[in-house]
Amino acid sequence: MRIGILISGRGSNMVAIVEAVKRGEIPNSEVVVVISDKANAAGIEKAKERGIETLIIPKAKQTREEHDARIVEELKKREVDLVCLAGYMRLLSKVFIDAFPNRIVNIHPSLLPAFPGLEAQKQAVEYGVKISGCTVHFVDEELDHGPIILQRAVEVKQDDTPETLADRILQYEHQLYVEALKLIAENKLEIKGRRVFLRQEFQKNA
Ligand code: GRF
Repeated sequence: MRIGILISGRGSNMVAIVEAVKRGEIPNSEVVVVISDKANAAGIEKAKERGIETLIIPKAKQTREEHDARIVEELKKREVDLVCLAGYMRLLSKVFIDAFPNRIVNIHPSLLPAFPGLEAQKQAVEYGVKISGCTVHFVDEELDHGPIILQRAVEVKQDDTPETLADRILQYEHQLYVEALKLIAENKLEIKGRRVFLRQEFQKNA
């Protein structure tokens, strides 16, 4: 599985994926490129240090579709077959989604469908929920919306700030993303409508 990762910032999920691939935890896979829309994304240096090819493709004056088409072109050139969004702060247009049907995944720091969009951890703290978490899902054209692959619940503590909650959730994000990619690499998943199933032959009681 040739993986392309899109980032806009820190890149800790990207690093978790790259390291897991190196350890052989995501079988038959390789991270072939890391692309950022932001020139100053800290994750770019981290990818370079790990020997991964990096590209910066800023949106600049292009339309959303033109920008997405540029990125798709670079991914296709490298024969990427799975795109991982890891802190990529842009909504993908139809051009992008159609180029990789059911082959784009994202991680979001809440239990979707609760708290989609920006600052999910702050939304959770301010709402007063006692449990939040993280979600890995396939990507469609709506924000934080596609079929859910895996979720992990994380307790919200009484003295949590958005920052302390974000730090706690992040540890689980790194594990959950790798678990989800392992399932995809092993071709264990099947999507039916909004629901993602473990293929029958991999179910415990099959
Ligand atoms: C993570 O919390 C991720 O869930 C969200 O953006 C953050 C990115 O962090 N989509 P990093 O760049 O992976 O460190």
